[in-house]
Amino acid sequence: MALVTSKEMFAKAYDGGYAIGAFNVNNMEIVQGITEACQEEHAPVILQVSKGARAYANHTYLVKLVEAAVATCPDIPIVLHLDHGPDFETCKSCIDGGFTSVMIDASSKPFAENIEITRKVVEYAHDHGVVVEAELGTLAGIEDDVKVKAEDSSYTRPEDVQEFVERTGCTSLAIGVGTSHGVYTSDPHIEQSVVKAIRDAVDVPLVLHGTSGVPDEQVAEAVKNGICKVNYATELRQAYTKGFMAYMAENPACFDPKKPAKEGMREITELVKIRMTNLNSVGKAE
Ligand code: G3H
Ligand code: ZN
Repeated sequence: MALVTSKEMFAKAYDGGYAIGAFNVNNMEIVQGITEACQEEHAPVILQVSKGARAYANHTYLVKLVEAAVATCPDIPIVLHLDHGPDFETCKSCIDGGFTSVMIDASSKPFAENIEITRKVVEYAHDHGVVVEAELGTLAGIEDDVKVKAEDSSYTRPEDVQEFVERTGCTSLAIGVGTSHGVYTSDPHIEQSVVKAIRDAVDVPLVLHGTSGVPDEQVAEAVKNGICKVNYATELRQAYTKGFMAYMAENPACFDPKKPAKEGMREITELVKIRMTNLNSVGKAE
């Protein structure tokens, strides 16, 4: 199966009452660890790349790694998505360079400016057959280059979403509902009433960010209430590092990076299977 956009994936997810897992990738082992889980569990998946990942691993390497995953996992649909695109130029470069989906994150800008920037990306993306995730409302925490203090975060206002979606033409929408990026410093809480109110206001697929560390029950409830894409980054890094470090702690004389890296990959595969089971996307690849 070739790389796909998320359009059909999201429609099927809403019909089937499940959500799509979106996992951040930075290197070969993380791509392999995730896609091995998806291939084994027959689950559709979104592999997403942040600005920081592109700076670290190089755009072309990442695209080729994901193309390799597509070739070795022929039974599952895979989307290659730009996560938190900071500006039009970054989105354009990913659209021109083989991504099937981009996120423009202008959520820190005033409402009218967010609409203007998002609209420009949507026009270019749609002309090239690429879908666009936008963001309204602001999440606290740190996600690579995106850093927001708790006092600057905000829930998405349900009364704003219809106008935003209509004026931008975005194909999916990331919403602020209480989650934050990175490691939680207090108990995570999804404000389910906001998820419901937004789902009642618009038909556009809704995206949950900052999901690492959020209890599975809260995420499953948010999916019931209308979330259709669920983003994980931090806990993949933690899983990989845990496997790698555990191997090195037991084998301090090891100088072959394949051995600890394999343990990191194994941890990722296990974690992704657990998350996809919770999202109810196991067996949903078609
Ligand atoms: O955009 C990526 C996600 O929102 C991941 O957030 O690192 O808290 O899982 P997380
Ligand atoms: Zn995010």
